[in-house]
Amino acid sequence: MYQSRIIGLGHYVPENIVTNDELSKLMDTNDAWIQERTGIKERRWVKPGSGETTSTMGTEAAKIAIERAGIDKDEIDFIIFATLSPDYYFPGPGVMVQEALDIKTIGALDVRNQCSGFLYALSVADQFIKTGMYKKILVIGSELHSRGLDKTTRGRGVSVIFGDGAGAVVLSRSEDAKKGILSTHLHSQGEHAKELSLVAPGMGKRWVSDILRENDPNDESYFPYMNGQFVFKNAIVRFVEVINEGLQKNNLTKEDINLLIPHQANLRISQFVQHKFGLRDDQVYNNIVRYGNTTAASIPIALTEAWQEGKIKEGNLVVLAAFGSGFTWGSAIIRW
Ligand code: UT7
Repeated sequence: MYQSRIIGLGHYVPENIVTNDELSKLMDTNDAWIQERTGIKERRWVKPGSGETTSTMGTEAAKIAIERAGIDKDEIDFIIFATLSPDYYFPGPGVMVQEALDIKTIGALDVRNQCSGFLYALSVADQFIKTGMYKKILVIGSELHSRGLDKTTRGRGVSVIFGDGAGAVVLSRSEDAKKGILSTHLHSQGEHAKELSLVAPGMGKRWVSDILRENDPNDESYFPYMNGQFVFKNAIVRFVEVINEGLQKNNLTKEDINLLIPHQANLRISQFVQHKFGLRDDQVYNNIVRYGNTTAASIPIALTEAWQEGKIKEGNLVVLAAFGSGFTWGSAIIRW
């Protein structure tokens, strides 16, 4: 069996910075509340009318990852795109990246696993490479949340948290069994699907025509809903569980971790996990303070920044972990 290694990383965030103070002009919130509860100081929100979308941001991140991988775009065998905020209801953004990068008619797959979407996508890519089916796979996580948030006081519990952005990696076949993605671990618990969800428009509850017909100003069904405290409580348990699962699978212990990159859900969640594993500040990478929670994009953005800042060195043990809507959660144990 082959091993897969990350050979290129890139990220892209929109230029437009939105501070907590700016949000307090839109809704009843304040910088102190947001920082204390989430650690967020600012996030990037696509400027309306800029033409930027989930797929264009994903494409920009992908271009950088491909260039850094030192490969030609036509060497890519497959594209996997994780998002909860696609440009279209269908088709998904994977094919849009294929077109934008002018890559030949390779396959493109879209992954719908929200905050753990990038880890699910990475795991799928890893399996394709391990079996020998593909040699180079482009894996993207991108989100454009800002257009779909309720930016009034009614939606403040959710809208202050989420930001826009994209990250991408190129995964490549390697024959060095000791390096690369050592294992991935994926879980879900559908009984809690509604606790962090956006139920309309959808074929299950209400479609666009129903929303328009009812024209109800109190309708909140087309805004994201989050049972914040319940999600928080589950997140801290699952993060710890799934990191331990990954370590045990590889006969490793917490002392072996060089860098933990948690999905940037909430700085308090990352800090809880950090303390559980007894990690120093420099062993956990967080950038939620600048970007908010970018869902499927948060891990590839953080991974790219950590790598750019020289925090990831050859031979390091890098642990990725995520939890979110579904509920879904997962981890990846990587020997760099
Ligand atoms: O990435 C996917 C996974 N997502 C997560 O992991 C998120 C997990 N949950 C959280 O991060 C936290 O639950 C939140 C940051 C979302 C909320 O923090 P919290 O400490 O759980 O606050 P809360 O929802 O219990 O609200 C506390 C108070 C409420 O007021 P009352 O009822 O105590 O008077 C809210 O109405 O804070 C109020 N509140 C706000 N106040 C100012 C809620 N949102 C805001 C806001 N600004 N933006």
